Amino acid sequence: MNLYERIPNNVNLSEDKKLQRALEKWLPNFLDWWHDMGPEGFQNKDVWLRTAVDVGSEGWAHFDYVKMPDYRWGIFLEPPQPDAKIGFGDNYGQPAYQEVPGEFRNSLRRIIVTQGDTEPASVEQQRQLGKTCPSLYDLRNLFQVNVEEGRHLWAMVYLLHRYFGRDGRDEADALLERRSGNPDKPRILEAFNQPCDDWLNFFCFTMFTDRDGKYQLSALAESGFEPLARTCQFMLTEEAHHMFVGDTGLNRVVKRTAQLMKQGDVRELGGIPLDIIQKHINFWFSYSLDLFGGEISSNSADFFAAGLKGRYKEQEQYEDHIVAEQNFTMKVVDEGQVKDRKVPMRNALNEVLRTEYVRDCEKGLARWNKSLADEGISERLFLPSSRFHRHVGEYAGRHFDIEGNLITAEEFEGRKAEWLPTIEDREYVRSLMHPVTEPGKIANWIAPPATGIKGKPFEFEYVRL
Ligand SMILES: [Fe+2]
Ligand SMILES: [Fe+2]
Repeated sequence: MNLYERIPNNVNLSEDKKLQRALEKWLPNFLDWWHDMGPEGFQNKDVWLRTAVDVGSEGWAHFDYVKMPDYRWGIFLEPPQPDAKIGFGDNYGQPAYQEVPGEFRNSLRRIIVTQGDTEPASVEQQRQLGKTCPSLYDLRNLFQVNVEEGRHLWAMVYLLHRYFGRDGRDEADALLERRSGNPDKPRILEAFNQPCDDWLNFFCFTMFTDRDGKYQLSALAESGFEPLARTCQFMLTEEAHHMFVGDTGLNRVVKRTAQLMKQGDVRELGGIPLDIIQKHINFWFSYSLDLFGGEISSNSADFFAAGLKGRYKEQEQYEDHIVAEQNFTMKVVDEGQVKDRKVPMRNALNEVLRTEYVRDCEKGLARWNKSLADEGISERLFLPSSRFHRHVGEYAGRHFDIEGNLITAEEFEGRKAEWLPTIEDREYVRSLMHPVTEPGKIANWIAPPATGIKGKPFEFEYVRL
């Protein structure tokens, strides 16, 4: 594979002239978008980045200095499985779909467009962050995440161009036209319209919102539409680093806060108080839960029945891949009370996936609480109830306290400032965000990482400014 091909790929692009031409036409529009909406102020700097060059378990990535607009956004799918079968749903055991089945065309396009829309959205949300980086190491990680979200956009655009003809091309164009937070043409999902304008938000975003991405991609990696499954399988390889950035980033903030707590008043010492960190967790966790969709969902049942979207680790974790008989008991609001309700399992698959996600998030919390314990601090961080501060599904339009008890709108208003970041909290965090760009130096509100990237030390010049 030649790294310097115009669109590096393992899909034999050079043999499909029509597709190649379509993508080459889309490429300059993508680059225009990258210039307009990608990281501001760093486009001509050398950044030490990894580039996907293959899908093999050894050496899939190449590390070197590159200017971001010269990054090679390639198209990589995991190799096909011979005799791939649909792994779940009504057509379980049938040959996997190699082309889009007519009856599922709209659903499948919707799934791909919704996933695709999140990728450029996050780049837009994070566009100003480079200017206030806490270290060169963090600056590089931000840009690594940004260019890979760009590649994930490419991955979805490839599927739209290759498998959906004209309306696929129109959708691919529209992915470059919507803008995060724009009232007239917003991004599709609400968490991707929230500003991500300081580094605490960035770490929360990569911890909680990228982690939703991991679970969505994992469910699609099971898809009976094989090109989608193979695409998502490879995206997960890159996604792991994004969550690493969020998880370890928050851990470093927590650790630094704990150190400052032992010295005196965290605010006076220029750190981020633990309660502000907790409020950010509450905010991003609740918005990220919304991304899984309604608790009771006919879409989830339809997607599963059609073999389009499976469960997390469908093949590894489950014996019954038809799931026609099972039920799932969940909490719903009924006559002003939170009660159990039994729902057909296929209609509860959003909630099943969300439950896996929550379990994964809890591991992050355990790591951060261990850092607090290691520093000798007795306070602990926690995840709010899944019912708290929801805007989608069963609990939307109602009010719950942080433990998930139903409360009135007035009570919620009265206590909101205890649970969610206030304007003052956000302004305080923003007041700490001053760039630190000397190699080996770090901002006062965050601890340095335990190690650098790919064997390089923390002091390495990850970005040449
Ligand atoms: Fe992504
Ligand atoms: Fe990501």
